[in-house]
Amino acid sequence: MSAAESLQAEDVYFSTNPPPKQLAAHTALAEAFITQHVAANRRVVLVTSGGTTVPLEKNTVRFIDNFSAGTRGATSAEYFLSAGYAVIFLHRQFSLLPYSRHYSHSTDCLLDLLSEDAEGRVAVRPEDSDRILDVLRKYQSARRDNTLLLLPFVTIGDYLHELRAVARLMAPLGSSGLLYLAAAVSDFFVPPERLSEHKIQSTNIVEKLYPGEKGSKTPSPPIEDEETFDNFDASPRVPRSKRLIIDLDPVPKFLKSLVEGWAPLGMIVSFKLETDPRILVHKARYSLERYQHHLVVGNLLSTRKWEVVFVAPGRQDQWLRVPRHGGWGDAEGRPLRPDEAPEGDPEEEIEALIIPAVAQLHDAHIVKSNSEKK
Ligand code: PMT
Repeated sequence: MSAAESLQAEDVYFSTNPPPKQLAAHTALAEAFITQHVAANRRVVLVTSGGTTVPLEKNTVRFIDNFSAGTRGATSAEYFLSAGYAVIFLHRQFSLLPYSRHYSHSTDCLLDLLSEDAEGRVAVRPEDSDRILDVLRKYQSARRDNTLLLLPFVTIGDYLHELRAVARLMAPLGSSGLLYLAAAVSDFFVPPERLSEHKIQSTNIVEKLYPGEKGSKTPSPPIEDEETFDNFDASPRVPRSKRLIIDLDPVPKFLKSLVEGWAPLGMIVSFKLETDPRILVHKARYSLERYQHHLVVGNLLSTRKWEVVFVAPGRQDQWLRVPRHGGWGDAEGRPLRPDEAPEGDPEEEIEALIIPAVAQLHDAHIVKSNSEKK
């Protein structure tokens, strides 16, 4: 796709997909946040996190979602804050958040860490106090210094509008702006003109009650009358009239717009998610060459907490791995196969390795860009 064509695809997308209601408010918050931290000489990173939904109806009852809980984004945000960055955390509503993520799961529920004393006062159990204190201090420091801005999104459309708005605000930061795109972004969506206004029905009730009226559009072909459906399958398991066939369009590849238009001087880090280890590095390299940004962090669904690969221009691919029992053996030079994925979560968080390495590349990016200015 040429630059003009991709600009046109972008224009069409943003003019036909409505922005989220909170866009103006979020933009104002992000602008004030960036101004505050630029004045304090602090670097700003935009971290995107969690999955985007694809609504199937305008009055949305049903939507397509993906697996992401926002662990990568929320954990990364904490390490960026520890590294001195101010963080704009563009995240899927109700996904994991920095700091609170430690106690928001049923496996580590905050209530299990509390006890009641003889006077009916609630306190943290002494054995859990140290680890909570550590998280609490970091959380309070982010609150006190206003270094963490939380901006929620839900749908793919919300996400793209918010991403574009914040990225544009970060453009004036030049090379000191960092965009770290860890959200799991939908590749397909239902365009507004094919979105059903109301909940998609599994029968033709609307057509029966209001014959002749143009009913709600659905992403499927018109629902046929149960008695008259075209039964070309000799013995269909499910009558065709009850099937829902969803026809999805590709979401335009916004990375191109980001690199070329929205924040052209900032450092842009994208993530590449695959499930087949044989193609991960190849796809990461392809993405880098196609979009001409600065770093692709490749990860596999089954092993993403254990290992990632950094693919960057002019550098050897670099695997980052958390320690595991028995070492890495012959896997050191290649990704783990899904059947080699260790059980459970690692003791160390891989973001503790990822963020310092990204920050180092960001330093180099700033130095290079400053030297090119001279
Ligand atoms: O949240 P967790 O459970 O911790 O999981 C973390 C993660 C696996 C989601 C995260 O580490 C990750 O890999 N995020 C990126 C997932 C993703 O969208 O991968 P992809 O291969 O579908 O897309 C690759 C890149 O293309 C993405 O960086 C995205 O920004 C970009 N993209 C995607 C869709 C689209 N229409 N345009 C794009 O430019």
